[in-house]
This record gives sequence, structure tokens and C-alpha cells, in this order.
Amino acid sequence: MAAAAASTNGWILGIESSCDETAAAIVRGDGTVLANVIASQIALHGQYGGVVPELASREHLRNIGPVVDAAMREAGCRFADLAAIAVTEGPGLAGALLVGLMYAKGLSFSLGKPLIAVNHLEGHIHAVLLECQRLASPLPEPILALVVSGGHTHLYMAHTEQGSWRYRNVGRTVDDAAGEAFDKVAKLLGLGYPGGPWIDALAVHGDPAAVPFGPIQVKPKAHRRADPETPQFLFSFSGLKTAVLRYVQTHPLQPGIEARRAALAGVPHATPGDALPLCDAETLNLIASFQRAVVDDLLRKTFAAAEAFAARSILVSGGVAANAELRRRFTHTAAERRLPVAFPGRGLSTDNAAMIAAAAWPRLLAGETAAPDLTAEPSLALGR
Ligand code: KG4
Ligand code: ZN
Repeated sequence: MAAAAASTNGWILGIESSCDETAAAIVRGDGTVLANVIASQIALHGQYGGVVPELASREHLRNIGPVVDAAMREAGCRFADLAAIAVTEGPGLAGALLVGLMYAKGLSFSLGKPLIAVNHLEGHIHAVLLECQRLASPLPEPILALVVSGGHTHLYMAHTEQGSWRYRNVGRTVDDAAGEAFDKVAKLLGLGYPGGPWIDALAVHGDPAAVPFGPIQVKPKAHRRADPETPQFLFSFSGLKTAVLRYVQTHPLQPGIEARRAALAGVPHATPGDALPLCDAETLNLIASFQRAVVDDLLRKTFAAAEAFAARSILVSGGVAANAELRRRFTHTAAERRLPVAFPGRGLSTDNAAMIAAAAWPRLLAGETAAPDLTAEPSLALGR
């Protein structure tokens, strides 16, 4: 095993099952992604408006074998060619994580290949580093990483020390993650699941200044519970979600919401394009204003943290990094501040296994293989 850890030859098979995507990917040491297979459970959980943990575990069980086989086939790779197997150990849903983890452990044991445990959040960061490697444009260190998804809104300072990545958590949400707020607001407004892409597509048709939500304030009590060192970089999105609810309750939007929900339920594979004619101007303004408030907050705190920690570049990753307004505004502000900014490549912003395999390469080279008693860590933190 130690011999394999010394070179970038071969392929790493990455496995990811922390939430509602069963994913497997093959990534070479030079960052080439040979296969990136994802079995999405969106249609299943969409009926419930959110991920149902028991259903997710069962779907992972059904999908894990076929997804790994598909990735191996697509890459033209034999199990004997693998340098290692990488798997997400956490954070995520316990039952969901266990499926990928046990499968990876079984493969590692039976093939005699090293097993590398990867933190899902580190994976999201490596989705961007992988893209930078592909474009041959590495980000100057230290890097400020914003990981913004359905489960997380975290800021990390990241740098390498003798080839190994080191992380320091400098900001996080004290309640809902940004993606969760997108999902809940979309559900409230009778749109599809997950809500982010629906709000993203519809927001361009509304006036983002129509509903002045104002800057997001984090309650002093929440400050004390979270990181006292950097309270200015804490996020909170549950108040904004409640403000949208209050707006709906105090304006005549409810009949339109019910009608939209019913109409979309009758459209097979409904898209945001189907929702647009079902939204009046006031609803579109509310959607645009909500998105503006989220992006304003992410932008303001990320760039303030970059300045406070003397970051030499910024990366944004996680499902919400796909948002068009977020990308446009981060790109614009970064150019003004002369800071390089990078986002995940196509297909790598939402959960995938290529990012898990990519994060595993430096660990394999440093000989950081997993202990045999590795188990799922639903609340695993990244960095100190
Ligand atoms: O990273 P991800 O696939 O899974 C988690 O680790 O949570 O992120 C999923 C989240 C969902 O909340 C989804 O609504 C959000 O990312 N999302 C978006 C967009 N695409 C996905 N949010 C805003 N705009 C988008 N275009
Ligand atoms: Zn994720």
C-alpha cells in the first residue's frame, strides 16, 4: 500500500453518498476526470419537498453497485488499475453515508487497495481546485473558500503545507444553509424542488429592489454559541425565510401560489419555464428580492473575510455556486478588488464523486490512508 502512495500513476475511484446523490467517479493524478456518474434522487424526494433520510439510504443501496460499475466502464478502468478508493466519511445523513462507506471498505479490503476518507466539504473545495488544475491556473494561496450548499454555508481559509491541504473554519451559518433557504422559499411559493435552480431562473424576470429585505443581522445570542473569534463572518438565513413568509401572508399571493402548485403538479418533469407564465409580477419581484438579499449577504461577508484574513484568492463551491447572480456579482467584485475567483466546472458544483477522488489524491500521496475502523461521521467538521 505504501508503494502506491508515492506516485500519481493510476486512478482513484471516488464514492459519494452523503445525501441524495449516489455518485462514483474515476480521477487520474493529473486531475483528468475519466468518469463522473451520478444517480440523482431528486424525483423521489421532490414529491416530499425535501430529502427523506430512510428513502435516501434505500436508494443508495439500490444504486451504489450499478453506479460504480458504470464509472469503471466509462473510464475503461479495471479494479486492478486503481491506486486507491476514496469515500465520503461525513458530514451527511448517517444511513446514506454508511452505504457508500461500507461499499468502499469492501472494495478496498477485497482488492487490497488503500482506502482514503474524505470530508464532503473538502470535496466541494477540491471540485474547484480540480477545475483550476484542468485550466492550468492554480489559485494563489492562502485561499478563502465559500462552501455554499443545501446543508452548509461555511467559510474556510485553505493553504498547502508540504503538499497537504490545511483548513481553518472562519465562518458558518448559525441556522439554515443558503441552499436550504432557496429550497424552503421555493416550496413556500409553489415552485419545484430543489428550489435553487427555479429561483435562479425566475429571478431575472423580477425587480430585485422591489422588496427591501435589508442586510441580514445575526442575533447576538447566536454569536455566543458559534465562533466567538470571528462573529462578523456568521451567516443566518432563517430570518430571511420568515420575512418571505410574512410578505406572502400580508399580500394577496396565496391564491396564486395554490394555483401554481396545482398546475405544476400536473406537468410531468416541470421546469422553471413552466412556472414563469404562472407567476405574477409581484411574485417575480419577491423571488428576485430574496435572491438579491442572499447573494448580497454571501458577497459582503466573503469579501470582508478575504480582507480580514489576507486571502490571495477566493473560491466558491457547493450547489448554490451554480447561481447565475452569485457568479456574476462575485466575478465583478473580485475583479474590482484584483482577487482571482474560481467556481466549479460543469457538473461539479452539486454533489459528485469526482471532487471526492480529487480531494483524496494529496492524501494518498501523503500516505494518509483510513484506519480499518473508519465509520460514518454525520457531523464531521473540516479544519480547526
Ligand atoms: O451541494 P449540493 O448538491 O448538496 C448539498 O451538499 O447540499 O447543493 C444542493 C443545493 C440545494 O439547496 C439547491 O437548491 C442549491 O444547491 N442550488 C442552487 C442552484 N442550483 C442548486 N441554489 C441557487 N441557485 C442555483 N442555480
Ligand atoms: Zn454537498
